[in-house]
Amino acid sequence: MSLRKISKEQPESFEFNSKNLSYAEKIIKKYPEGKQQSAVMALLYLTQKQNGNWIPLAAMKYLGKFLKMPYIKVYEVATFYSMYNLAPVGKHFIQVCTTTPCMIKGAYKIVEACKEKISENENELLKDNDCSWVEVECLGACVNAPMMQINDDYYEDLNKEKTLKNLDEILDGKTPKPGSYKGRLNTEPEDNRKTLIDIKNA
Ligand code: FES
Repeated sequence: MSLRKISKEQPESFEFNSKNLSYAEKIIKKYPEGKQQSAVMALLYLTQKQNGNWIPLAAMKYLGKFLKMPYIKVYEVATFYSMYNLAPVGKHFIQVCTTTPCMIKGAYKIVEACKEKISENENELLKDNDCSWVEVECLGACVNAPMMQINDDYYEDLNKEKTLKNLDEILDGKTPKPGSYKGRLNTEPEDNRKTLIDIKNA
């Protein structure tokens, strides 16, 4: 698991643009009177989307005022969950799952591919902020291990060769096709039966 660090470079201020401001108000209305602070996770996510995929400290302070809650509480949430980035990440942000199921199916071969194509180090931005990679805990796609997430898409059933090819495509400005790289439909069994219909007493 990588160490998450707050960026040393911080903008002075942050505020929602008009589109996100009205969306944030809509989100808050989903919560009962007096429980608006429960919207903090959704608003942190919205902040991250607006701010190039990371959350500066000024934005946490802004959200504290916006939700009438102490800044430290917003900070605690933002720093606890790994889905919130606390420093700038690449335009193509690659998260490699290295939790046990992915690890035993070869996740460290994917890490090797990232080290070869992007950087020896996690969280290091490659040319023009194009790419960065990081190790993360389970992303909930263990059945199709090993896997990585690039921005919002999952790439599953990978090996080193397929990962290198995907990374080459990204560096060429293309978007590789998400999903299983063994041609599986969702999480169907790899080569065994697909249904119990033919099996007596199943
Ligand atoms: S262990 Fe990798 S997705 Fe769950």
